[in-house]
Amino acid sequence: MEDVVITRDLTKVFGTFTAVDKLNISIKRGEIYGFLGPNGAGKSTAIRMLCGILMPTAGNAEILGFDLYKQAEEIKKKIGYMSQKFSLYDDLTVEENLNFYAGIYNVNSKERRSRTQEMLEMSRLTGREGELVANLSSGWKQRLSLGCAIISRPSILFLDEPTSGVSPTSRRMFFGIIEELARAGTTVMVSTHFMDEAERCHRIAFLSAGALLAVDTPEQLKKKVIKGYLVELKLQDAMERISSIEKLPYVKECNIHGSLLHVLLESECYEEDLESFTGSKPKGITPSLEDVFVTLSRYRKAGEKSA
Ligand SMILES: Nc1ncnc2c1ncn2[C@@H]1O[C@H](COP(=O)(O)OP(=O)(O)OP(=O)(O)O)[C@@H](O)[C@H]1O
Ligand SMILES: [Mg+2]
Repeated sequence: MEDVVITRDLTKVFGTFTAVDKLNISIKRGEIYGFLGPNGAGKSTAIRMLCGILMPTAGNAEILGFDLYKQAEEIKKKIGYMSQKFSLYDDLTVEENLNFYAGIYNVNSKERRSRTQEMLEMSRLTGREGELVANLSSGWKQRLSLGCAIISRPSILFLDEPTSGVSPTSRRMFFGIIEELARAGTTVMVSTHFMDEAERCHRIAFLSAGALLAVDTPEQLKKKVIKGYLVELKLQDAMERISSIEKLPYVKECNIHGSLLHVLLESECYEEDLESFTGSKPKGITPSLEDVFVTLSRYRKAGEKSA
């Protein structure tokens, strides 16, 4: 598959602060490419540069073969972008919003009706065409924003935390639409803080403090990043015990997950040692993307090498 996004040392500096630091990524046609990382990692900044909204400080990128510096206008015509805040008109109806965006994106007037209809179906908005946007729930608004972002049938769709603030059901429905679009050939780059969404991405890039720490499929990331034997531990005073558990020679990491501790052991044979130290029976678990996320964030803090 051809690469539709290629970046070379893409960098953005605000004053003296480097928000994106020499980013090198490539995204294939039809891929759902997830962007993960803690708050302030540089996800939105990177996405804005790739959309041609924000000029890079250094480095370069090619989007659909177009140069980011020289051909930003061509790029904007071929892509769709949905920002963290939606830009819908509350005092217009669902259909009027779609029509408005069809106009902005220069959708041929003959095609506008059919395209609007297509978007209503795609975004699961049929039946609410005449409803004022102000009266829609956030899940519906999000799907309408998506409909507006894809009304020009972009080849690449950039979604910056498209599902923040909506119900889990709406989030799943939204991601279902993303998967349909990708199957039809649209390339999707999506930033998210939700691990269930990250699981549904074909590949994930993990960013921290502007730097790319790892890129791979969810499955490979779990294998590559979590090296050792992971157990779950239930303790009354979990928070207070982390530092003493971490000091054990056979413990690589200890992190809190909800009310439980996840302890990464050098190997399975230390399970009993951990049990006698803590007085609680550890349970072996399969690493989740959340574990990967926590581990990678720690690597960064400790200044260790990327995965
Ligand atoms: N226009 C700007 N001027 C100065 N600093 C900025 C600007 N835009 C972003 N930053 C800084 O760059 C860093 C990266 O921000 P960015 O919004 O890209 O992070 P993010 O990964 O999208 O975070 P979040 O998960 O919170 O959305 C942050 O420290 C932010 O404060
Ligand atoms: Mg952001």
